[in-house]
Amino acid sequence: MQNLDQIAEEAAAAFAATDDPDTLEQIKARFIGKSGQITELLKGLSRLAPEERKTAGAAINRAKESIENALNARREAIRRLALDARLASEALDVTLPGRGEIRGGLHPVTRTLERIEGLFRSIGFEVADGPEIEADFQNFTALNTPEDHPARSMHDTFYLLDENGKVAEDILLRTHTSPIQVRYMQAHVEKFSHLETMPEIRIIAPGRVYRVDSDATHSPMFHQVEGLWIGENVSFADLKGVIADFLRRFFESDDLQVRFRPSFFPFTEPSAEIDVAFMSGALKGRWLEIAGCGMVHPNVLRHVNIDPEKYIGFAFGMGPDRLTMLRYGVNDLRLFFDGDLRFLRQFV
Ligand code: DAH
Repeated sequence: MQNLDQIAEEAAAAFAATDDPDTLEQIKARFIGKSGQITELLKGLSRLAPEERKTAGAAINRAKESIENALNARREAIRRLALDARLASEALDVTLPGRGEIRGGLHPVTRTLERIEGLFRSIGFEVADGPEIEADFQNFTALNTPEDHPARSMHDTFYLLDENGKVAEDILLRTHTSPIQVRYMQAHVEKFSHLETMPEIRIIAPGRVYRVDSDATHSPMFHQVEGLWIGENVSFADLKGVIADFLRRFFESDDLQVRFRPSFFPFTEPSAEIDVAFMSGALKGRWLEIAGCGMVHPNVLRHVNIDPEKYIGFAFGMGPDRLTMLRYGVNDLRLFFDGDLRFLRQFV
């Protein structure tokens, strides 16, 4: 039985020599696996005489047991080693100073929109919203846009496809924020239908708009801020006052001039383009177009069931991207939408 002790010692030594769990199992196979040394000895028992078989069998089983004990002890030791190594590698030093966090910042156009909202809220305007996927009625028809107006053509407007992949001519990406006027007036009329005289409408509506257009000063997606004030006695003079006051507060300067230049929009009559000129600084003396405006066309009011004999008001639509470029001295509109952090970080 000398031989058995040797085998057991050999096994224990081999187990001790590895700290890899897979290797350990391979070593185990050599001794007590299906055709391991000990297993072979057990198989050989059948050839012994019955009286010898008993003592030999007991001895072999003792050796096997001792090998199994050594194996289990080594398994446990290896498991602990691995755990210790992991604990060491994942150790957390709570006394280290923090690495700091990367702070986000507001996009420059978002800053402008928030600024515009704040200024208009301060003079009693509410902020309204509307869908970017619009119906033809709200985007064009209710705004008195004739059937053959070029703005309706595929060239300027992104139309959506129906489920058969055909152009759905009455669903589109809104080309301006003016449909929010229509939706707001429709809801307002409905809400106050029980009143003899409805309360005034005084809103601005900022949002994204879409057109088939792209160069240094045009992006297929850009922003507008719509304005609308409807009441029983709202005049062009009110429009001029609101806009001029807004621009002076927005640019934090009295050193600018505002001019209303006659223009045309289907949904206003009369219509004007609003230009601003700074009296000092890099842009001194140049007239810059920043909005369209006018007195809301009676047909628009009729489309939303407002009596144009009783109510009157003005609307405007301005380009906050343009205002942001002017305020921060940015010369390429596309910079706002490229998402380049080197550019955007300058505004944080
Ligand atoms: N919707 C016009 C555009 O996108 C801008 C505009 C002009 C809006 C005059 C108005 C307005 O409300 O009265 O070009």
